[in-house]
Amino acid sequence: MNRLIIIGASGHGKVVADIAKLSGYTDIAFLDDAPGLKVVSGYPVLGAVSTFSAFSQDDFFVAIGNSDIRRRIQDEISSSGARLVTLIHPSAVVAQDVVIGEGTAVMAGAVINPSVRIGRGCIVNTSSSVDHDCVVGDYVHVSVGTRLAGSVCIGSGSWIGIGAVVSNNLSVCPNTMIGAGAVVVRNIELPGTYIGIPAEQIQVAS
Ligand SMILES: CC(C)(COP(=O)(O)OP(=O)(O)OC[C@H]1O[C@@H](n2cnc3c(N)ncnc32)[C@H](O)[C@@H]1OP(=O)(O)O)[C@@H](O)C(=O)NCCC(=O)NCCS
Repeated sequence: MNRLIIIGASGHGKVVADIAKLSGYTDIAFLDDAPGLKVVSGYPVLGAVSTFSAFSQDDFFVAIGNSDIRRRIQDEISSSGARLVTLIHPSAVVAQDVVIGEGTAVMAGAVINPSVRIGRGCIVNTSSSVDHDCVVGDYVHVSVGTRLAGSVCIGSGSWIGIGAVVSNNLSVCPNTMIGAGAVVVRNIELPGTYIGIPAEQIQVAS
């Protein structure tokens, strides 16, 4: 098996490294811009993110929570011709016909039911569930414990906060933040930040 280079040695990077190990990678290393960082979770930090082209023979995974940064770095690696992998924790339940894009991580205990499409560079986080026929766009984060009911559509770059719920047949537009614990009961058509039950838009200081 190739070496896996994980971009980003934060908490999210550690979780990704754990999935990679369980998926059979024996040689794992990080790239991260934090000065002085040498070892994380027992894996070496080989240098800054900008040095990635020196590792073109290796597999890559971008483990950065911010979806804009994740997208930018993943696109850069992809256009360099390097290999981006998809990582699925062995305890996740993923139906047979589910389509998952490259650079997506599916964490422990997640359940993805039949006929779901998940885009590139997504995070389907710990113990979340994505029910039948959902379409999850590129670089979406479905946070820990989130519930997407059947036939939900999440636009690219959106972040569904921890423990949030999106009721069946609804759409959330791209580049939208759904706050922790919110319950979405109507289509969300304007990008922004939404909180509460039912979820309503709030203004966020810029
Ligand atoms: C919605 C969110 C993005 C807002 O963050 P923010 O712009 O920094 O907003 P603030 O923390 O300044 O809060 C603004 C107001 O909204 C309230 N608020 C914030 N998040 C809320 C939430 N999820 N539900 C209900 N009220 C919330 C705050 O209490 C505050 O109210 P106040 O003005 O009466 O004091 C953030 O609180 C959130 O929910 N993030 C989710 C994080 C997450 O899911 N992490 C999981 C990683 S796996």
